[in-house]
Amino acid sequence: MGRLDGKVAIITGATSGMGRDTAYVFAEEGAKVVITGRDEKRAKEVVEKIKNSGDEASYVIADLSDRQSLDKIVDETLTRYGTVDILFNNAGLLSIKSSMDISIEEWDKIMQVNLTAALLLSKKVAPIMKAKEKGCIINTGSVAGTSARWGAAAYCTSKHAINGLTKALARELGPEIRVNAILPGAIITAMLDSVGGEAAAEGMREMSPLKRIGQGREIGTTALFFATEDSSFITGQLLRVDGGVDC
Ligand SMILES: NC(=O)c1ccc[n+]([C@@H]2O[C@H](COP(=O)([O-])OP(=O)(O)OC[C@H]3O[C@@H](n4cnc5c(N)ncnc54)[C@H](OP(=O)(O)O)[C@@H]3O)[C@@H](O)[C@H]2O)c1
Repeated sequence: MGRLDGKVAIITGATSGMGRDTAYVFAEEGAKVVITGRDEKRAKEVVEKIKNSGDEASYVIADLSDRQSLDKIVDETLTRYGTVDILFNNAGLLSIKSSMDISIEEWDKIMQVNLTAALLLSKKVAPIMKAKEKGCIINTGSVAGTSARWGAAAYCTSKHAINGLTKALARELGPEIRVNAILPGAIITAMLDSVGGEAAAEGMREMSPLKRIGQGREIGTTALFFATEDSSFITGQLLRVDGGVDC
């Protein structure tokens, strides 16, 4: 018996990286998983892998920078599975430009994908979860949401802001819905690769008492903790999953 049997989970940014690994963990635990992202080829591959293991998944292609496409994610989930129990707002966009260099268009896009999409999807699923008297929302922040040291202006600002949104939603949506955030440190994914991969994260590895970079699945198992009754008395929390990097 899986720990998410009968649950329906939407995971944004599940075509790659830690969202994809979380989709595998949730599906193994019995959830019906809705994968979202822009890349249909990768979305299909994730769904096929899950289905080949005998579990259930489907995908919705949506660009989170387009507000109109957000409703589609929840609407298609309801059409296919009738409900939604877990929302994992995981998709993210990284920019390493400074405040002085970033264009307002890029700033807006990062805020939309990393922050506003999480708000809008939460607004859409909250009434469904409230009516069921149970639900769980998990946001992906970052250690860049605790210090300006780890990310450039827009990314860092969006990740600080998702912490505030997590706490605000937790206060507003209880007691039925629990809302928490995972703050990853350096995790081996396409995003890390885009800024130089493990070599670029050498400093993080050195600072970690565990002396390594994290794996996407370690975010998946943390998300599983937040999605199950193992975390039944936990809401509004920001959990760093960073190998113990102390800054
Ligand atoms: N890797 C790290 O070291 C690290 C550290 C701290 C925090 N994080 C955070 O962890 C989350 C997952 O990142 P990752 O490392 O797993 O990166 P990743 O492998 O690059 O995955 C990013 C995911 O976000 C989706 N995405 C990006 N822009 C999108 C858009 N406009 N519309 C819809 N989906 C979009 C991508 O899907 P498509 O390409 O299919 O659109 C992809 O599935 C992000 O929020 C990131 O900020 C990562």
